[in-house]
Parts: sequence; structure tokens; C-alpha cells
Amino acid sequence: MKVDVIGGGPAGLYFAILAKKAWPAMRMTVFERNRPDDTFGFGVVFSDETLETFEKYDLDSYRAITANFAYWDDIEIHFKGTVHRVGGNGFCGCSRVTLLRLLHERARALGVELKFQTEYDPGAAGDADLIVAADGINSRIRAQHADAFKPSVDLRPNKFAWMGSTRPFDAFTFFFRETAHGIFIAHCYQYQPGQSTWVMETDPETYRRAGLDRLDEAQSAQFLEGVFAQELAGHRLIVNRSLWRNFPTIRCASWTHDNIVLIGDAKATAHFSIGSGTKLAMEDAIALYEAIKATGGRDVKRALAHYQTERRLEVEKTQHSADVSLVWFEQVRRFWEMDPTRFAFGLMTRSKAITYDNLALRAPEFVTQVDKVVAHDVRRQGFDVDVVKPVVPMFQPFRLRGMTLNNRVVVSPMDQYSAVDGMPTDWHLVHLGSRATGGAGLIFTEMVCVSADARITLGCTGLYNDAQEAAYKRIVDFVHANSAAKFCLQLGHAGRKGATKLMWEGMDQPLPEGGWPVLSASPIPYYPHSQVPREMTRADMDEVLADFVAAAGRGQRAGFDMLELHCAHGYLLASFISPLTNRRTDEYGGSLENRLRFPLDVFRALRKAWPDEKPMSVRISATDWEEGGLTGDDAVHVARAFADAGCDLIDVSTGQTTPDAEPVYGRMFQTPFSDQIRNEAGLATMCVGAITTADQVNTIVAAGRADLVALARPHLVDPFFTLKAAAWYGVTDIHCPPQYLAGRDQIFRNSVRDRADLTELKRKAKPKGHATPGWKQAAE
Ligand SMILES: Cc1cc2nc3c(=O)[nH]c(=O)nc-3n(C[C@H](O)[C@H](O)[C@H](O)COP(=O)(O)OP(=O)(O)OC[C@H]3O[C@@H](n4cnc5c(N)ncnc54)[C@H](O)[C@@H]3O)c2cc1C
Ligand SMILES: Cc1cc2nc3c(=O)[nH]c(=O)nc-3n(C[C@H](O)[C@H](O)[C@H](O)COP(=O)(O)O)c2cc1C
Repeated sequence: MKVDVIGGGPAGLYFAILAKKAWPAMRMTVFERNRPDDTFGFGVVFSDETLETFEKYDLDSYRAITANFAYWDDIEIHFKGTVHRVGGNGFCGCSRVTLLRLLHERARALGVELKFQTEYDPGAAGDADLIVAADGINSRIRAQHADAFKPSVDLRPNKFAWMGSTRPFDAFTFFFRETAHGIFIAHCYQYQPGQSTWVMETDPETYRRAGLDRLDEAQSAQFLEGVFAQELAGHRLIVNRSLWRNFPTIRCASWTHDNIVLIGDAKATAHFSIGSGTKLAMEDAIALYEAIKATGGRDVKRALAHYQTERRLEVEKTQHSADVSLVWFEQVRRFWEMDPTRFAFGLMTRSKAITYDNLALRAPEFVTQVDKVVAHDVRRQGFDVDVVKPVVPMFQPFRLRGMTLNNRVVVSPMDQYSAVDGMPTDWHLVHLGSRATGGAGLIFTEMVCVSADARITLGCTGLYNDAQEAAYKRIVDFVHANSAAKFCLQLGHAGRKGATKLMWEGMDQPLPEGGWPVLSASPIPYYPHSQVPREMTRADMDEVLADFVAAAGRGQRAGFDMLELHCAHGYLLASFISPLTNRRTDEYGGSLENRLRFPLDVFRALRKAWPDEKPMSVRISATDWEEGGLTGDDAVHVARAFADAGCDLIDVSTGQTTPDAEPVYGRMFQTPFSDQIRNEAGLATMCVGAITTADQVNTIVAAGRADLVALARPHLVDPFFTLKAAAWYGVTDIHCPPQYLAGRDQIFRNSVRDRADLTELKRKAKPKGHATPGWKQAAE
């Protein structure tokens, strides 16, 4: 087989090495437009895991690489005069030029033909059976076949420039500096003796204010030497094509076309803040080699299809992590006023790969420090909590007005579709009662409807007659008598999603018969085949508002501790807030201020009716996940408006406002919106959505991304989520009904052993560290 590799970067060279080693008869040529020792950038980084993969695939290049690497275990975060050092990270750095030289040598030794200073002409591909396009971020091949590869480029707003210095480092180091122009960040690491990479980053406004758009490479470096004078400690910055750029996140719908395959940066990029560019490139090379091997080495098209299927998920996961990470740096201003320890914890856990528990394993002192800072914050709120040996963040108390919660876990509202004529039944008593005894600090009712016509389905509960009030009072009384949980009533009106089937018969599908007329902000049906709602008149609004107030009065009499107004998920009040569902031309439509008018009227009326000492929250859909719909920035305005009207907590959900939404799911996928509202608007928030472990709850609370963490589906199958977590973390101060004490004692005993076993297993599974390279030992 004849193979042309376009581009002698890490992706192209490593593929050539692996393939030539496996199939010596392959005629393999690498075309590289530069000279062998020409290179941009300074150092590259790999994690322990990545090095272990290299060891498996080609021992020779692995040995050469690791003999030339700087190895470090710690990450250091310098912020406002503080330094946090977090161990157990296992990374290596090496100069890019050295890496390429080692790969050149290995490729040559295996018989790969390397053609330097040779521009590959995509138009003159010749007779190659396989063309591996490893031609980097500005791939000409990708551009030439854009119709087939369908690339998309998301050009990020921040500016970055890759520089170097002679300042040594013994940790991967982040420097944060505020200047009169704005914030500058330096991501630094050493890659060989006396050589370190400094990736400089700043936001576009700071860049312009500092006049960097008018400075050349050398002048930019001189400016940054001023900004980071203290950090450079007398060393100079070095430039090497260190131009300011915007990072492009590149994705391609297809990575293959005929006998051409894209690998490395040509097919997809991942932001430098997760240090994965070169790793991804070399792992692509491995995946392509594996695909050829798996398909027998002769059928190119099958091999390429296999590569794409097998590799895509991993690349997308890395890109997703990189996207979350880059947003943290873009939004760093949001976290600027945080305590430095929480700031550092937020930085460490930004991309979800590192969590509270795994930091506790690798950097226990740092996590103890985080626990203490969280406990001190709680103490400042007037709680007499232990700050010397604090409990984990999820078990810290929290207060809203006169209501105190024992911990940060919330049973999210979940409709049970099991009511009869709006009446909660024994099902609701058992369901809510068992979740309350399971240990969560706060439990929610399902969306309780304010009138018969406000119901979503025939199975929804309501609070519009005395019998319903009495039935709910029975549940509230049970919860208060048998648990330490507080109980929040969620009130709502279904709007255009009303008169639909039970969840398990067809969510949001219109009732074939027995439906009732529905209302909305505008006469737009949810689905094309749904009922067309009536556009609400002011008289309708008055009636609905009165229903809400009456239901809140019943809720107060039933003894609920807290009240939530449901303004999310496309129900009536949400339909006013989203521009996709509100097309009104009166004072209730148009601007966000107008769209909020009726929901705020309802909220204010409830706030007046609801006792002062009892808190209120609002559930919002922070984004519609749809072009032209609400965004996270809008959600900050929405949250502020409700807070100004007396709202104590924003319950941050997303979507479900239109059927065309395209949510980006993933672990904790809605938490960034809570983070944005909490840290930009300075409001208490509750987050929800694909949060399934106590570890995630601790991570979110400790990083200050939310004050409360709600879990819905996990509680459906595990009412005792919180009690179990208490046992896991050894938090003995958790309420347990006396009937269940024997079970609690047993799980507490077993958890100590289970935790020790798991910790040991994880320690063993950790990639082995790598020996200090010879040059470093000599230097020490
Ligand atoms: C300015 C900049 C600096 C960077 N610095 C670093 C760094 O210091 N550390 C780090 O880890 N990552 C760095 N990166 C990211 C990293 O380089 C990439 O993620 C990684 O190198 C991707 O490897 P690759 O083999 O896919 O592409 P590349 O390394 O970009 O290699 C592609 C190669 O193809 C060659 N080429 C392109 N077109 C043709 C053609 N038609 N004919 C012949 N040859 C061609 C190019 O000259 C280049 O050598 C940097 C990125 C940029 C944009
Ligand atoms: C069966 C079920 C019923 C739900 N009913 C409601 C509801 O009545 N009110 C509401 O605001 N959210 C409701 N939700 C949404 C949840 O409160 C939560 O926001 C969502 O399930 C995401 O959280 P999770 O990933 O922990 O399940 C419901 C979810 C489920 C699974």
C-alpha cells in the first residue's frame, strides 16, 4: 500500500511510525513544508495516562520521549498574592522541537521517507492508496473538500499568544494578574532545563484597552514582561511567531472522504487550557493505525469508516471538556471576588474531569483547606459549625429567611401523575414521606396546579379546594413529624402544555378527548398537532393571578415551609418569558422587561400573600437551547428581576420550552447556568440536571457553582441518597427516624470499610509516575 502523509507534526509522524512498524512493506512518505528544526510553539504536555499509551504502542519512541521530558506532579495557582499547590496531577513537558526530532529519528529508522520543505499539492495527489491529512489547524485538504468534511469553526473571543521564558518551574503554574486594563492569565510549564512555555491569555476588551492590537510581537512581550514582572523573576519572555490569536474550536461532520482521512488538529481542535492538542493528535494516529489493523489492512474505505466510528466519541468528549475549560478562563472575572481557595478549587474542577473526591485522594490537604473555607463562609452566615474538622460541603447547613436546611441536597420537584381530581393520594404520601425520611435537607412537591384548568394532565395535583388542602396538610404533617426535611410547595400553571396525556402515555401529547381549553402568552401550539392556546387577556391574567394567591394561602395553611413559583419548562409563566413563545405586541410582549411583567406580577402578589419569614424561589429555564431564544445572559437579567421582587433563591433549570430545543446534555449540564447567575448576579441558586453522585454535590457546592443541589431521577430510585452519602463521608449528625436506626448504624459501619477498599483500588488504578529524566537528575 502507498500512503502519503501530509504534515510532519506529531499526528502525521506518529501514524507513519506505527504503520511502518506494523507493515514494513507499506510505502510511507511524510510531506512537510517546513525544515526539520523549524517549529512554532515551545513545549508540549502529556499526562501520565497518555505516556502509558505511548509505552504500549512504541517502546522506542516512548523511551526517547521520556528521557527528554520534564516531569511534574503539582499544579500551582497564583491568585491575589496566594499560592495553592495541588499535587497528584502527573504531567510531563518536552520541547516540541525535541519531540519532532525524536519522531523524525524513529520514523527514519523504520524506513519512512521524510520529505521536508515540500509543500503537498492536494491537487496532485497521485497514486496514493491512502492520504493521511495531518496538515494541522489550517488544513488545506479540509478546505479543499469542505463539502465532504463539513467543517465548523467556533472562534473563541479571548486572545492568546504562545511565548516562552527561561524561568524554571517545578509545577504546572497558572498566574492571574489584574491590571488597569483588565485581567491577564499566564499558563506556564517547564519543558526542559531553562525553558518554559508561557501561554498568555486575556479577554478582547482588556486586549484592546491595553493597546495590544497595535503592538508587534516584541512590543507585546515587553508589555507582558511588565504585567508579569514579579512572576518572571528577572527572566525575559521569548517570542517565536508569538502572535495574538483567537482559539478556533474546529469540528468536522465527517473525518473521511474517499481515500483521505483527517487526523490531529486538521479534524478537531481542543483548547490549550487542557493541554491536549498534541495528545489528541498522537492518539488519533493510534486510532487510525488500530482501525487499519482491525479491518485487515487492505480495505482503506472500511478502515477509515472504522476509525471515524471508534474515535469520534473520545474526541468529542475531550472537546467538550476543553470547551467547558476555555469558558472558565473566558469568564474568570465572574470568580474574581471569590475566596482564593475556592477560586483554586473552581479552577481545578472546571472541566468536570477532576472532582472533590478525586482531589481528596490526590491532594487531601488542599481539600481539607477547601472544606475549612466553606465552613468559615457558613459560620459567617451565623451558623455555629465546626471549622477545625468541618463536614464535607454538602452537609453544611444553609438558611433562607427563617428556614434552615440541614444540608445542601434537595429532592427536585417530580410530578407523579397519580392524582385523582387534583387530589394527592396515598401514593404522594408514601413517595414524599419516604424521600423526606431519606435525609435530603429540602424536598419539593411536584408542580401543584392552581386550578383545574391549570393542570398539565388529569393525574396532576392541585390546591384549589379544601379537600386538596387537607390532603396536602396530611403529607406536610407527616414530613414534619418524621423527618428533618423542610418542604417546599411548587405552584404552577400548565399553559399551552395543559390538557395533555400522563407522562407514561405520551409526554406533552394532547388528550384525544376530555381536554379543556388552554391559555398561553401567544396562540402558538406546543406541537403542530397540539391544541392552539388562547392568547391571555388582562382579565385572564387577573383570574390566574388570583388562583395563584388563593393556592399560596392554602399552602400556608397546609404548613409548607417554602413556596416556589414555576416559571420554567414552557408552562404558562415560562411562555411569557421566552421570546420564542411570546409574540405579543402589548406591554406583556417584546422586550425582556415586558415579557417578565406578568410573571413578576404573579410573583409580587405571592410574595405579599406568603409570610415574610418563609422563603420563596422561582424555577426558570435559563436557556431555551434554541437560536433566538433565552440565553444564559438573559437568565441573569431574569434572576435579578425576581430577586428585586423579593425572591430568595433561583432554581436554575433549562429548556423544555419548545419541542425544537437542542440541549447539550452531559453530567451536570445545567450547572454552568447556575454558576453564571450565582456569580454574576450574586444570588443564591439551586442547580439541577444529571447530577447523580454525592461527589458532584460536594464539587458544585465547594466551587460555589450553586448553594443547593437538586436531584430528581436519582431520588426516584434511591430515597436514601443523602443518608447513604452521610455514611460515606462519616457525617454522623444526620436525622434518621428511630424505626430505621439499626439500618443507619450498619451502613455507617460498612461505609468505613467500603471507603477504605475503594480508595485503595483507586490508588492502584492510578497511572504510575514517570522517572525523573536524566538531565533533571543531573541538574539536582
Ligand atoms: C501558534 C500555536 C502554538 C502552539 N504551541 C503549542 C505548544 O507549545 N505546545 C502544545 O502542546 N501545543 C501547541 N499548539 C497546539 C499543537 O501544536 C497542536 O494541537 C498539535 O501540534 C497538533 O498536531 P498535528 O500533527 O495535528 O498538527 P501540527 O503540529 O500543526 O502539524 C501539521 C504540520 O503540517 C504541515 N503542513 C501543513 N500543510 C502542509 C502541506 N500542504 N504540505 C506539507 N506540510 C504541511 C505544517 O507545517 C505542520 O508541521 C500550538 C498551536 C498553535 C496554533
Ligand atoms: C418524573 C419526573 C417528573 C418531573 N416533574 C416536575 C415538576 O413537576 N416540576 C418541575 O419543576 N420539574 C419536574 N421535573 C424535572 C426535575 O425536577 C428535574 O429538573 C429534571 O428531572 C432534571 O434533574 P435530574 O437529572 O436529576 O433528573 C420532573 C422530572 C421527572 C423525572
